Formats: sequence, structure tokens, C-alpha cells
Amino acid sequence: MIVLGIETSCDETAVAVYDGEKGLLANRVFSQVELHRHHGGVVPELASRDHIERLLPMIREALAEAGIEAQAIDGIAYTAGPGLIGALLVGASVARSLGYAWGVPVVGVHHLEGHLLAPALEPGAPEFPFVALQVSGGHTMLVEVTGVGRYRILGETQDDAAGEAFDKTAKLLGLGYPGGPALAALAEQGRDGVFEFPRPMLDRPGLDFSFSGLKTAVVVAVRGRTLDQAARADVARGFENAMVDTLVTKSLRALCQTGLRTLVVAGGVGANRRLREALTRAVAKAGGRAFFPRPEFCTDNAAMIAVAGQHRLAAGECEELTVRARARWPLDELRAPGETHASTH
Ligand code: KG4
Ligand code: ZN
Repeated sequence: MIVLGIETSCDETAVAVYDGEKGLLANRVFSQVELHRHHGGVVPELASRDHIERLLPMIREALAEAGIEAQAIDGIAYTAGPGLIGALLVGASVARSLGYAWGVPVVGVHHLEGHLLAPALEPGAPEFPFVALQVSGGHTMLVEVTGVGRYRILGETQDDAAGEAFDKTAKLLGLGYPGGPALAALAEQGRDGVFEFPRPMLDRPGLDFSFSGLKTAVVVAVRGRTLDQAARADVARGFENAMVDTLVTKSLRALCQTGLRTLVVAGGVGANRRLREALTRAVAKAGGRAFFPRPEFCTDNAAMIAVAGQHRLAAGECEELTVRARARWPLDELRAPGETHASTH
């Protein structure tokens, strides 16, 4: 089955063509970073308008890249939420309209399910069950994944998401938007131990996270000081160290608690080089395996939406033509493909 995937939940317009047998045939992402940069963050209305302009041409390009005609598409999967409602509606409307025009089924995919299933895009992807560390701009959670649509949230952030904390700290250091990659690059030049920030919630049992205290500690450390480039790099390093330590410790705890040996890292912060290295080392030392999709499958993309949609479409899931999108959508409302009630395990 060949699926067209569409992702427009935030500031990337993404289109992919995925073949259940042959794998990924086309994968295109357009980042709106330049559009939002001088506003210091994503402006929802600008995001929606840009998705409208780019989506159809990108679908044409993706079909050309895949070397297929529209008639070869067996189904369409689009991100139905969570995300910016206007941006989501663009993807939903285009997906539904094309589904109607081409006479193929359409399914709305949960954005986080896409991230959780992104490893399937890689050769040697781990089998179920595994623990997923989902770290993106909007979410930070540890999830036990026992199958498609079978997700148990083990712990999640009580305040900021990890990516959000990266972005806010970057802003504080004058790095602008998007902050995560810029802060990570600056931290590469910083020294360990010059700034020691708290490791949030490591002293408490459980698998929840909290990053607002870490952000405040950085605010207090830099307040009233003029920092040169080297000192800013040391702050960035101290922040990244605290973040990495916290994510590593909680991930190990989740593996221990579930008795599972595989950790999959998903979401934009999973592109962070030092987090990848630290997790790989720590999980191997504990006798397990950490698996990371390549960075472009960690950040927002439509390939992961097509993969998740393919599972659901193949199981016969299909929506009526009503256009739906949800700005908020709890992950634990999902069901396994073909199942009518959420499992209670
Ligand atoms: O998954 P994603 O692309 O979008 C959401 O669904 O949120 O994640 C974006 C987040 C942003 O907060 C961005 O700053 C962060 O991931 N990010 C990084 C890195 N690359 C992206 N954070 C730290 N280090 C990176 N290399
Ligand atoms: Zn995402």
C-alpha cells in the first residue's frame, strides 16, 4: 500500500510518499524558520498561510520524486493534532479534498504517534515492546510502547517541554529562534563544571519531569551580568549537561521499571548530539540498546505520519469526509489499529 503523508502541525510543511513494502519513496520538508525568525517564535497565522501556499506544490514534487502518478496512491495520512489549529486545518482540508478527488481513504494521525513510530523508517529498527523517550518542543514524556496504538505514559513534564526549555534558555542567551540547535552548537564550545545547574526532579522517585526550575536557575545565573561569548558557551554547556543528565537518568529508570531493554528516542531534541552520545553509552552500560532515528526523522516530518497512517489504513481505518483537527489531544485516547475501544493495560 502506498501512502501520501502530510504534516502541517506547526512550522514545517512536510510531504512524504511511503510504500508499505518498498519503504520511503519521497520525503520533503520545508521549514518556515526564516518566516518566523524576526518574530522570535512561531506566529500561528503566518504558519497557516504559508502551509496553504506550499502544500499542493510540495505534493506534486513528492509524487515526482517518488516517480509515481497520483493514481498510484492508495491512501492519505495527515497530522490531525495536536498542534496549531489553523495549521492543522490546512493539512486536514487538503488531505480530505484529495481523498475525495482520488477516491482513496484518508486517516488523521496523532503527531506523537508519528514520532513514536519514526524508528520504523530506519533499517534495523527495534521490535515492540520498547520504552520511548519523546522529547520535542511541545512534549516530554516516557512512554511504554507495546504495539501500534498501544501506548502507556510512564511519566511526563509537569511544566516546560525539554525543547521549550532549550528554546527559552537560548533566547535568554540572545541566540534567537529556533533556539535548540543554536544552544547545542554554543554548548560544544563551553566548558564542563563552570556553571552547575540543578538536575530537576532527580531526587524524587517517579518518571515525571520539570524544567521550569532549571530555566529559572539559568535566569538567576546570568542576571545582571554581561557575558562574553566564552561565558555564554559555559552557561549553555551547564544547561545542556543538566538536561542530558536528567533525561538519561529518567530513561534508565523507565527501562528498569518496565523490565524492557530497548530505548527509542523520538522528537526534535533527539537530534541533540550530546544527548545521543550520553544515552547510547548509559543504556549500553545497563545492558540495553538505545535507538535513534536519524536527525531528520527526529524533527517534524511527514514520513513518520505516513508510516503511522499506513498501519491504520492497512487495518481498514478510514474517516468520513468531515474535516477534523484537534489543538489538544491526549495520547492515551488512542486505540490499536482496528480496535474500537482503548485498551486498559
Ligand atoms: O519534534 P520537533 O521538531 O517539533 C515538535 O513537535 O515540537 O521538536 C522541535 C524542538 C525545538 O524545541 C528545538 O529547539 C528542539 O526540538 N531541537 C533541539 C535540537 N534540534 C531541535 N534541541 C536541542 N538540541 C538540538 N540539536
Ligand atoms: Zn514534533
